[in-house]
Amino acid sequence: VGERWSGGQAAAALALAGAIALGAGCAAASNGLVAEGKRLFQEQGCYGCHTVGASGTPIATDLSRIGARYARRDLEAWLRDPRQQRPTAHMPRIELQPDEARALAAYLATLR
Ligand code: HEC
Repeated sequence: VGERWSGGQAAAALALAGAIALGAGCAAASNGLVAEGKRLFQEQGCYGCHTVGASGTPIATDLSRIGARYARRDLEAWLRDPRQQRPTAHMPRIELQPDEARALAAYLATLR
């Protein structure tokens, strides 16, 4: 009785498999970026002023849920130059390469 797959179904199944493969590739790439951002968070001394969860220093804002409050591109803009985003900012401008700011913003955006 087994019904044969129509060409349409087969194409749909192939497209789905492709989408899954692509999705996995993207997820892996962005996981790499997030891991890099997490590492930079330590390396660049962000922990010296901020807390994330139980670690860090509670001088400045707790960043545990920062990703729920700001979009990734806003975080990136902030990291490039806090004072340009908010003239009264006390956070110092930290020397970051563009890809470092991108990685840090990707990491911060996951904190929610
Ligand atoms: C010398 C202390 C200091 C260091 C180091 C520091 N920050 Fe900040 N940060 C602040 C202060 C103070 C604020 C609060 C806003 C302001 O500047 O008045 C802030 C605000 C922020 C905000 C916005 C929070 C909000 O609620 O608006 C983000 C995001 C942030 N910092 C991320 C970072 C990251 C990532 C690093 C490491 C690259 C870092 N900070 C390093 C002091 C610091």
